[in-house]
Amino acid sequence: MNKLMKLSLAAVLGSAFAFNAPAIASEDEGMEDAQAAVMHVLENYDIPITYDYISMLMRLPNAFGEGAACIVCHTSNDPKKSPAGLDLSSCEGIKKGGTGGAMITPGKHTGGTFRRRMRDNRMPLGVRFDTASDLPAIMDLKKWIADGAKNDANFKQKVLPSFKSETAFGGEQACTECHMSNQEPPSFHELDLTSYEGVMLGADAVAKAAEGLPPVKVVIPGDPIKSKMYLRVTENRMPGGISASEGRDHPNMHVMFRWIDQGASCN
Ligand code: HEC
Ligand code: HEC
Repeated sequence: MNKLMKLSLAAVLGSAFAFNAPAIASEDEGMEDAQAAVMHVLENYDIPITYDYISMLMRLPNAFGEGAACIVCHTSNDPKKSPAGLDLSSCEGIKKGGTGGAMITPGKHTGGTFRRRMRDNRMPLGVRFDTASDLPAIMDLKKWIADGAKNDANFKQKVLPSFKSETAFGGEQACTECHMSNQEPPSFHELDLTSYEGVMLGADAVAKAAEGLPPVKVVIPGDPIKSKMYLRVTENRMPGGISASEGRDHPNMHVMFRWIDQGASCN
């Protein structure tokens, strides 16, 4: 688990920790106070967010954590000119989305691809941004899910062994080094990728049960594109190249959520 230890877990697990426990963070404390002030105001006032501000965020480096401005990469609806044919340089472009579907659903910040693309780190955690998304292990996983996710020879001989491999998904650590049981710690999201039963049970079984809820399914049989397991090994967190240890709750994320919840007005 040495490589894992090098990552700032507080940041990986969300900056709720950073706000509650400033002692963990080594960043500038003044900046943290400023971020806490923005969160305080967002929580206590119904501030109308204008497109003008959103437009600025799309053009600003480090707007949501350390990384390039969105429009460095996303400037055209033509997938040859811009990744996923996503144009973030105009309000219409933001509303149109990319080849993966709508990026935002006006009125609901959890809809569309924006929230998960900004929050979900690609797995295995720390894998490089330019890692191919059609590696044999990824294609085997996709086919297995598309074929109904059964406990068949394909699963036993290809899919399960790949979760135990350090390199199959292009990273340096096996999935099972971090997802090995239904106990967190040590298993992130209580996700057990060491057996068929574990994979099908999904994530957070114990925590959800305490709330009277079912576990979070990571495999939807027959539908790889809706399966977190497939999305997690193919989709990079944005902005491209952002470190997995970067906090996921930058105040500008909440400003963006607010704009979406208010109907994503282009004025
Ligand atoms: C360094 C280049 C780069 C930057 C900067 C970047 N992206 Fe991306 N983005 C990509 C690439 C490449 C893909 C497609 C491949 C992938 O999923 O990693 C992508 C895919 C996406 C997708 C999925 C689109 C779809 O329809 O499938 C969304 C949403 C997205 N980016 C949003 C953003 C946002 C918001 C920002 C700014 C915070 C941003 N990106 C910054 C390179 C970048
Ligand atoms: C170094 C540790 C580490 C490794 C290796 C790792 N993960 Fe993760 N995984 C995490 C952490 C931490 C999270 C939660 C934070 C996040 O989303 O970035 C997570 C979240 C997930 C989730 C989301 C669960 C949910 O509730 O939505 C899935 C699915 C997942 N991992 C699958 C995998 C797969 C498949 C592999 C191997 C290709 C893998 N992980 C390798 C640490 C790891």
